[in-house]
Amino acid sequence: MKKKVYVKSYGCQMNAYDAERMADVLAPQGFVETDSAEEADLIVLNTCHIREKAAEKVYSELGRLRVMKDERKAEGRDTTIVVAGCVAQAEGGEILKRASAVDLVVGPQSYHNLPALLEKARRARVVDTEFPIEDKFDHLPAPSRDKIRSRGVSSFLTIQEGCDKFCTFCVVPYTRGAEISRPVAKIMAEAERLAAAGVREFTVIGQNVNAYHGEGPDGRTWSLGRLLHRLAEVPGIARLRYTTSHPRDMDDELIDAHRNLPALMPYLHLPVQSGSDSILAAMNRKHTGDEYRRIIERTRAARPDIALSSDFIVGFPGETDADFDATMQLVREIGFASAYSFKYSPRPGTPAAQMANQVPEDVKSARLAALQQALEEDRQRFHRATVGRTIDVLVERKGRYAGQMAGKSPWLQGVQFDDETVAIGDIVQVEITGTGTNSLFGQRVGADPASLTAVQRPHSTGANAA
Ligand code: SAH
Ligand code: SF4
Ligand code: F3S
Repeated sequence: MKKKVYVKSYGCQMNAYDAERMADVLAPQGFVETDSAEEADLIVLNTCHIREKAAEKVYSELGRLRVMKDERKAEGRDTTIVVAGCVAQAEGGEILKRASAVDLVVGPQSYHNLPALLEKARRARVVDTEFPIEDKFDHLPAPSRDKIRSRGVSSFLTIQEGCDKFCTFCVVPYTRGAEISRPVAKIMAEAERLAAAGVREFTVIGQNVNAYHGEGPDGRTWSLGRLLHRLAEVPGIARLRYTTSHPRDMDDELIDAHRNLPALMPYLHLPVQSGSDSILAAMNRKHTGDEYRRIIERTRAARPDIALSSDFIVGFPGETDADFDATMQLVREIGFASAYSFKYSPRPGTPAAQMANQVPEDVKSARLAALQQALEEDRQRFHRATVGRTIDVLVERKGRYAGQMAGKSPWLQGVQFDDETVAIGDIVQVEITGTGTNSLFGQRVGADPASLTAVQRPHSTGANAA
């Protein structure tokens, strides 16, 4: 009988990508994936350490799993429990002390050794949080064509890992290690394999994706802008996205790619964290609010319809009402299409956690509520602005209701539309007729020339209809 593995992933896209790679490493060992813990012989929690809440979630989950494991044991059935990801890296052996159900703790840079580590863990509990010298990517087996297909037409592609920026609030440089860029040739090999199996869109990912500086086939160092141009040439690839970027690494080549590369979608997630210069300095972000505004202006000049997205932290140590107002001011000026916002969470081992002037919880809550209300208004305004327009949609799956399909707009909005005849992976034109809280609704146009309702452009490779 096949053994079953359940990988539950928390946190960012890097973790989502790693979760798939872990399943790929385990497939040759006879493990098939399941999406239910109840069915699984092997349970992997791929954890996130970014905020206290995220990290604590893991321990409550492990508490539940211990009960399950004990019950099964009584019935003579074994369950193996693995903690992977950033909590594993940050806490290592502490996890074994706090959670008796855990058999193996494995960090984000050593999960390619999972088969050997699992073998070892049959004898005694194991912790591996090394940053090995070998490149884990060289040891990861390629997923099968069917596996790639089952994961959909839009795929993450890791090009860069780790971070050297050391923002004073952030654990990532400690949990993911130093910044490294994968060589272009290796990225291209993975990209071509994914595209050959039907992938139409890549979101290239990295903790600091626009700091990418990988070795090119010409022996020179390639930037993200250059790599994106190369990825756009992969047969079958219609759309490119990248995340997450740092304002300090938005170079001219990348901004130009937004102007010159039609496959590069008009969407930029560029975390600013705060609008106050003194808070930005205390965060060690190494840019000011105005420098951020200038980058946005230049990007908008290159691609006027670009949708902007950001991350915000409220209640960083020392944040005054005036600092918070500066954040609100920046939000009102820029008008983000989407955003994530968080209360500052002190993290062990980071400089900001030691700062004296921590902000009280109720102040953080009030600021977060005000910020989220402003961001939500902008988000809804952005959605409503698409109503009445005909836009390109990459079809990703069947829709919620019979007769519907679902996909994404160029601006990363979910779109539900009526028409069952299109195939997953097609790019079709949809006239937007309404908006919901999280998605757009529309009608497909252009299928039958007689039914054309809007000025149509020829079938494109993903440039938007603006
Ligand atoms: N590399 C990315 C961010 C990765 S972490 C960047 O530089 O922008 C994702 C987001 O989590 C951050 O942008 C930040 O807004 C938030 N975050 C990180 N550490 C945090 C902390 N200690 N408390 C609250 N939010 C935090
Ligand atoms: Fe964390 Fe800053 Fe690095 Fe982003 S750039 S991962 S926020 S240290
Ligand atoms: Fe969380 Fe690690 Fe990503 S801390 S946000 S899973 S890099």
